[in-house]
Amino acid sequence: MQGKKINFNGMGSFVKMGTCQMVKCISIRFPYTGRYTRMRTGFIEYWKRAVHLSSWWAIFLGVILQSAALYSASPVAVYLSWVDDPSTTMVVQWIESKEIVKSVLRVSKEDGEEWKNYSPLILAIEDTEVNLKRVFLEHLEPESVYVFEIRTGTGSSKSYRFKTMPKQIDAPVGFVVGGDLYYHYDLFRKMNAVVASLSPDFVVLGGDIAYAYCHEPLWLKQKDWQWRRWRTFLQCWTEQMVDGAGRLIPLLAVVGNHDVRGSYNKLMSGELTPSLFYTLFPFKQELIPYREIVFGDYLALFLLDSGHTHPVDKAQAVWLKTALQESHNIPYKLAVYHIPAYPSHSKFTNRTSTNIRNAWSPLFDMYGVQAVFEHHNHTYKRTKPIRGGKVDETGVIYFGDGSWGVPLRYPRTPAQEWYLEKSARIHAVYYVKLDKETCQVFAVDNTGKVFDKASIMPQHSEALTDAKGSSSEEGACLEIPSPN
Ligand SMILES: [Fe+2]
Repeated sequence: MQGKKINFNGMGSFVKMGTCQMVKCISIRFPYTGRYTRMRTGFIEYWKRAVHLSSWWAIFLGVILQSAALYSASPVAVYLSWVDDPSTTMVVQWIESKEIVKSVLRVSKEDGEEWKNYSPLILAIEDTEVNLKRVFLEHLEPESVYVFEIRTGTGSSKSYRFKTMPKQIDAPVGFVVGGDLYYHYDLFRKMNAVVASLSPDFVVLGGDIAYAYCHEPLWLKQKDWQWRRWRTFLQCWTEQMVDGAGRLIPLLAVVGNHDVRGSYNKLMSGELTPSLFYTLFPFKQELIPYREIVFGDYLALFLLDSGHTHPVDKAQAVWLKTALQESHNIPYKLAVYHIPAYPSHSKFTNRTSTNIRNAWSPLFDMYGVQAVFEHHNHTYKRTKPIRGGKVDETGVIYFGDGSWGVPLRYPRTPAQEWYLEKSARIHAVYYVKLDKETCQVFAVDNTGKVFDKASIMPQHSEALTDAKGSSSEEGACLEIPSPN
């Protein structure tokens, strides 16, 4: 049989036409199978075969179109946070095209049969093609797994899962704290993978989250540069921040100087309009990022604004004092903010650090805050316990200094700075594991290795570092107990 190849579908298969010796026919090679079949060129036979082939291609095309429809129903990003009790609430947020006019959140307990529908709050992200949609879930059951999906006119998203926090600390709780995240894409993703592998119950972001406001000259930036930074951050978060059981890991965002226009105190003075930070993350009070998140009866997290939108002193310090007083019987009290009171790289006498030592440190001392987490310096540091501006075994440990995914700086050494217990030029986050007896803080580098640790005792007990207890050696591989 002689013949020629004719491109059939642009994917490598073809119709091979030729003439048989006795009967004129065409020979067809089927896509994928590679088999040949002969077709008589009589009019009826020809159309029978054509219809047969068309039906296969119709099915193939249908599958492609169906996949496209499902894909178009998938949001740009999906992420979780809290403004209230993490044992009974969850804030579900997603970003999707403005072309999707109506979407609904469907939620069910994983082991339940009842699905509830929620209409989201819609927040326009200006000068973009997308909206942020937000649902506040309440009256959830503690320590329970929920399933949700987003349904639009074109289909449903894939199913996502989350777990609420326990009301009591009967089993260990683990979370990650880290700041200065998405500066370099590859570094950011590398640390994300390490954090996800720890399967934390949640992550606290210590500011400078997406470097949406940076120092590059304006002519280098595209019009929607800020949004593109946030979009990449949120897409990576959606993709990577899934725990070992396939559940999305909630985040709590703390404000940093690169998260807001003007960096320091410009918004509330009326000089600038709110930045995307205040749209993308939920807060109980509009434009007030300092807040307390209370986990059942065991943990109070004080998430503070180190002068980026609100002054360190004045109303924020008054609020902090009251919040600490009201949380006096919670065994673990920890604070997270961006600019370090006890910096490892920047000057000890810089204005913001001095303000924090004057306005907040005395409150930490007075109301039993055991440890704080600071950032911004792009280094690793752990201070000696400090009380009243001096080393004191009953004092507060200041962990830092923000090196999730940024270029590293050189820290001062313990020999150079009286308050430093340890410092290093290393990418790091903290994995914090707490139970009834103790709170362990592990410093983890971006290969997943634990290179430092400290222990904190619950309320009314002295803060202890490993200088008093077990040893911690740089480079040692310390096992982090498996999370739930
Ligand atoms: Fe910063």
